[in-house]
Amino acid sequence: MVTQDTTVTWNHQVVPGYFRMGLLCDTGFDSAKPGQFVMVRIGTENSPLLRRPFSLFGLIREKRRATGIEILYKVVGKGTELLSCCKEGDRLSVIGPLGNTFSISDSCRRLILVAGGVGVPPIRFLATSLLENESRPDICRVFIGGRSKEDLACITEFDLPGFMLEVSTDDGSLGHHGLVTRSLEKSLDKDPADLICACGPEGMLKAVSSIAAGRNISCMVSIEAMMACGMGACLGCAVRIVDDKVHYRHVCVDGPVFDAQRLVW
Ligand SMILES: Cc1cc2nc3c(=O)[nH]c(=O)nc-3n(C[C@H](O)[C@H](O)[C@H](O)COP(=O)(O)OP(=O)(O)OC[C@H]3O[C@@H](n4cnc5c(N)ncnc54)[C@H](O)[C@@H]3O)c2cc1C
Ligand code: FES
Repeated sequence: MVTQDTTVTWNHQVVPGYFRMGLLCDTGFDSAKPGQFVMVRIGTENSPLLRRPFSLFGLIREKRRATGIEILYKVVGKGTELLSCCKEGDRLSVIGPLGNTFSISDSCRRLILVAGGVGVPPIRFLATSLLENESRPDICRVFIGGRSKEDLACITEFDLPGFMLEVSTDDGSLGHHGLVTRSLEKSLDKDPADLICACGPEGMLKAVSSIAAGRNISCMVSIEAMMACGMGACLGCAVRIVDDKVHYRHVCVDGPVFDAQRLVW
């Protein structure tokens, strides 16, 4: 993990309210993994005061070296509004990569990826990383959901060899009409899976976790929490984990990826 000044190489709107940004970095991201995130300082004169966390959407590579990172973000408040105004050549201080990753064992042959709304970045990074892995699962099914087609950013990024993509929208404006979890259940009725990896709104993750538990499928979720430091210092991102008893864990250092069945929802 390093702190460095990065250079904005692109920052464009992909669907209304969602932006894709490329940042050139000097060092530190060669072995960054899907699920990991960065803390970005936005704005000037400490306003907003706190850095904002964003998952890695992908790495920019030259030959084998990572020369930069990509993030995909939704404008929801002051920080992301300011971020959306950044231009090519602007400098942004970034700390990362932070956090853990999805762990997919070689014995996982049937993998399901689920992303809702702004949960797309770590799932896209995971999908593209799997392409480079010779022992990747034989079957990879991807389920992407959003309220409407305006909430489906970068779905063409999942048009990858060997991946099957199903899109759902709550209002039926694109793909299946209904919740992404309905499509997931229908698919699982036909074909079982060894592992589900998911990222998205808490309600969706809770539903995916429950579907996985009901069918005895392992499930890993990348969750969000309010973060001030991103490094285990402020205790602001605690979540409860249960094994034989309940423990507190930090989303920033112990996560953001957790075994869904161990989270206290
Ligand atoms: C590990 C991690 C990875 C993330 N990855 C991404 C990503 O790839 N793309 C993306 O668009 N967003 C991501 N987020 C959420 C992103 O950090 C927030 O949307 C951002 O910090 C909001 O900043 P803001 O100043 O625009 O909004 P603020 O003005 O700070 O807040 C606006 C609204 O968003 C809510 N909010 C702010 N931060 C969070 C948060 N962390 N979780 C839930 N709600 C929040 C606030 O409660 C408020 O209602 C991630 C969060 C975490 C913890
Ligand atoms: S964000 Fe400070 S401890 Fe996790």
